[in-house]
Amino acid sequence: MKAAYCQFTPVFGDVAGNLRTIERLLKSVEADLIILPELCNTGYLFTSRPEAEALGEAFPRGKTTEVLCRIAGEKGSHLVAGLVEKSGDRLYNAAVLVGPAGPIAVYRKVHLFSEETLWFDPGDREPAVHDIGSCRLGIMICFDWLFPETARTLALKGAEVLAHPANLVLPYCQDAMVTRCLENRVFAVTANRTGADVRGGRELRFTGKSQITAPDGTILRRAAETAEEAGVVEIDPSLARNKAINPFNDALQSRRPEFYGELCRLKRP
Ligand code: ACM
Repeated sequence: MKAAYCQFTPVFGDVAGNLRTIERLLKSVEADLIILPELCNTGYLFTSRPEAEALGEAFPRGKTTEVLCRIAGEKGSHLVAGLVEKSGDRLYNAAVLVGPAGPIAVYRKVHLFSEETLWFDPGDREPAVHDIGSCRLGIMICFDWLFPETARTLALKGAEVLAHPANLVLPYCQDAMVTRCLENRVFAVTANRTGADVRGGRELRFTGKSQITAPDGTILRRAAETAEEAGVVEIDPSLARNKAINPFNDALQSRRPEFYGELCRLKRP
């Protein structure tokens, strides 16, 4: 299958313009799976919850999901894209999965980063794996990378490829994804954004360098820090079904969960 990231600089609040940019960048991209950045239709740096609410959309009947479904239908691709999901009085930093036949699922970011905790409600569901035909796909969002439990949970549920929309501001994630992929023997497509949001007297600069990583930790493709760019790599998701590190060790079967009691505690004692 062909997997792709698409990185660009969203303009804060300009949903229609950002969707036009996405459509322009994807025009020449041929891929079975295309990952777009976190909050790719709105921009990132909100200054209040009401501001985030005003840009929130329902799933599956929101405008952005509608446009993504049209693109997915035209291209015969599956797309994962970050947006603000509004559900009743709840507001989530979410990523939607759509395919040629329409909307499929929404993932609500479990580990909110910094002031996101002021703007959004934390994800209220377990990360899930979806069989999209070309692969078994798990979805996580940006800062979920810091919690190895997220990628591990998805790998244990059978994910072969991790879709990872991101708006990264710290410099560590791209290198950390090498370990996330290696320890779980999965592929990951990290789609980061570029540029900066300057709002409310603050500036947040994003690190670009979107990346496709293989189950053996090889970086198959890494984008530049600032370029607007779609990167496509041919991958074989069946490689992610082989969890053997060597003839004696298996990344999942060799675990010793009977000694991992602390992992299951809800909070530190
Ligand atoms: C992040 O989770 N957007 C850093």
